[in-house]
Amino acid sequence: MSPSREEVASPQGQSLLTRVLLALALIALAAWCVDFLISVHAKYRHVAPATYTMFWTRRAWLWTHLAGGTLAIVLGLVQFLTQWPRAFSRVHRWTGRGYLAGILIASTGAVGLIATSPAPFAIRMAFAATAWAWLSTSLIGLVAIRRGQVQKHRRWMTRAWLVTLAPITFRLVIHTPGVMTLADPPDVIAMMLWVSWALPLLLFEIGRRSWALWHRRRAGQAQAGLSRAADAGPV
Ligand code: HEM
Repeated sequence: MSPSREEVASPQGQSLLTRVLLALALIALAAWCVDFLISVHAKYRHVAPATYTMFWTRRAWLWTHLAGGTLAIVLGLVQFLTQWPRAFSRVHRWTGRGYLAGILIASTGAVGLIATSPAPFAIRMAFAATAWAWLSTSLIGLVAIRRGQVQKHRRWMTRAWLVTLAPITFRLVIHTPGVMTLADPPDVIAMMLWVSWALPLLLFEIGRRSWALWHRRRAGQAQAGLSRAADAGPV
């Protein structure tokens, strides 16, 4: 299969510093994910009405959601932490399939939870939008790789991963001092549910475009330097 035009044109070659910073950020993210999963599983380990509160009568949906969500977070982490080299492309493919299965299972649970939730409409809408963003970004990423568009696949899978992290981002945002006093609690919760995936997607887009612009500028400057040297001729 020949590489797509986009794949050939994309900026390559990260400096050592960029790689180290990226590795450190991924390790911090992994710790953050593990902490989230441990606290969530500890919370629902004791199966009783007192611990499950509003989820007690809907616990089957919650378990479905939790099982898929855990699978998606763990396998997504494996994909991003390992960045499987080409020699492991089969492993990457199977981990990816497991990750997508996790998203599908968790989304089925999310639909059941939204349909049975006593929460205000704004909160249910925010959850539904998150589910839509999760499924659509993953689907675009999947279709891209089926068409051999590697760069597009990476871009959209990174976006899907940022949406996967929404509950973790949400927990962080909601615990930020002062956030819960911004408006009525149900309104703040609805707003922060949107923020927990829309803001990371926006920051990713800004970062990605700035990076590409910087690379193009540098390549342009290098090209101009070479042309000037050629014009000056041999000394
Ligand atoms: C990114 C897409 C996601 C969507 C759309 C979503 C949707 C939902 C919905 C609708 C509820 C129930 C809210 C209610 O009934 O009022 C819920 C609760 C919950 N979700 Fe998710 N979720 C997502 C990702 C995840 C992931 C990846 C996990 C990780 C395991 C997770 C873990 C939980 C837990 C533990 C609860 C129970 C509430 C709590 O204890 O905080 N969710 N989610």
